[in-house]
Amino acid sequence: MPRVRVHQHVNPFAPHYRQAPEPIDVNATFARPELPLHLDIGCARGRFILKMADAEPQWNFLGVEIREPLVTEANEIAAERVLGNVHYEFCNAMIWLGRLLADLPEGILQAVTIQFPDPWFKKKHAKRRMVNAELVEIVAEKLGEGGRIFVQTDIEFLAEEMFVLFRTSENLSEITIEENPFPVKTEREIAVENRGLSVYRALFIKSEPPA
Ligand SMILES: C[S@@+](CC[C@H](N)C(=O)[O-])C[C@H]1O[C@@H](n2cnc3c(N)ncnc32)[C@H](O)[C@@H]1O
Repeated sequence: MPRVRVHQHVNPFAPHYRQAPEPIDVNATFARPELPLHLDIGCARGRFILKMADAEPQWNFLGVEIREPLVTEANEIAAERVLGNVHYEFCNAMIWLGRLLADLPEGILQAVTIQFPDPWFKKKHAKRRMVNAELVEIVAEKLGEGGRIFVQTDIEFLAEEMFVLFRTSENLSEITIEENPFPVKTEREIAVENRGLSVYRALFIKSEPPA
């Protein structure tokens, strides 16, 4: 199948991206809705979770992406594979992640990945960055006990900005890691490694503070 052509970036404040998604219904989405859920935010063409879904059939995988044609294409490819444990949603995560995840059964979200999000380098575009305080709060709240959040990027200032936001959440503890803890690399991770660039990574684990 030829790769669908899309704009490299979209303005998340444009009216089209302000549309609210319907909350995801895991029972209607996955063949085995009781499995733990791995959420990949900003999944682009979604190949990372497609490969993960094949490698780890005891998990469900949900990819969230703002560029709608990529979501349509990724769902078509996933349907051809008949895996039953991978699905993609069109969603502007910066604004609507909370609504998308509103009906998730408690504790089911066990892994979240945020990999190489767009840095929006210019100061005047900083508000367009996907990882903001609201997104971090939602992820930290929805994540089940013991669940993991893996964040990586090759842009040092963006890594620090994101890590600081996750460090402010009192239910998360940080683990220093050198390598991607998953058995699959994203397209961007492979490209960055091929160019010999540094990658900044952090892993956060959810644990409720003692009562
Ligand atoms: C640089 S790409 C990295 C893609 C993939 N995670 C990887 O590592 O190969 C960043 C992706 O995040 C998506 N994105 C940016 N802002 C977003 C938002 N507000 N909500 C959802 N996806 C977003 C972009 O469209 C793009 O596909």
